[in-house]
Amino acid sequence: MRFDILTLFPELFPPFYNESILGRAVKKGLVDIRLTNIRSFAHGRHNVTDDRPYGGGDGMVMKPGPIFRALNSIERLNEKTPVILLTPQGRTFDQSIAWELSEREQLILVCGRYEGVDERIRTGCIDMELSIGDYVLSGGELGAMVLLDAISRLVPGVLGGERSNKEDSFEGGLLEYPHYTRPNIFDGEGVPEVLLSGDHEKIRKWRRVESLKRTLERRPDLLKKVRLTDEDKVFLKEIKRD
Ligand code: ADE
Repeated sequence: MRFDILTLFPELFPPFYNESILGRAVKKGLVDIRLTNIRSFAHGRHNVTDDRPYGGGDGMVMKPGPIFRALNSIERLNEKTPVILLTPQGRTFDQSIAWELSEREQLILVCGRYEGVDERIRTGCIDMELSIGDYVLSGGELGAMVLLDAISRLVPGVLGGERSNKEDSFEGGLLEYPHYTRPNIFDGEGVPEVLLSGDHEKIRKWRRVESLKRTLERRPDLLKKVRLTDEDKVFLKEIKRD
């Protein structure tokens, strides 16, 4: 899968994507990340990419020309390749959008800075606007990294034998159960007996109950959206009774 990222700060990206799971995916060629510096497409001696807003007011606006030319320089592998703008005004990115986007051959991510990009870029060149949450960042770069990470994990082969992503929080629509590893006693605290029992069916049930408990406590909104099995409904009744 290929990601083309348009940014004024390309140097922020390699330290992130060359490490860990994403780093391995890049080395294996499963994920191809190309960076385009918007500043290279600015005209004039000073390569200016921003300007004062028409109508006055604080802050600067990213000029349309450099972004437009940068976008035109990108090779499109597919006529359906979406151009995505990272902006706090976008739809909130979540796991289901990550799945949808992981099926694309290529994504083009545009990172805005300053007060935003000229509206004519948004209306003329952008297919989708995504936010990573209800807060304002200094630019779209962190958002692009969040997409890069969450989507790459879903590309076949990226997680390899390491683990399946099917049990991750949100994958089944629920938060994940608690995890334990060695040592058996840490800071005076033990490990739930059931996890040491070797009884796989008991362990599966315990994990499902813990998953439901956590979701009920922390994110009851998720429980309303998920499709619960009959077993889940029994577990939930017991949890609520306790
Ligand atoms: N740029 C600035 N804030 C952002 C946010 N919350 N999500 C995505 N891009 C942004």
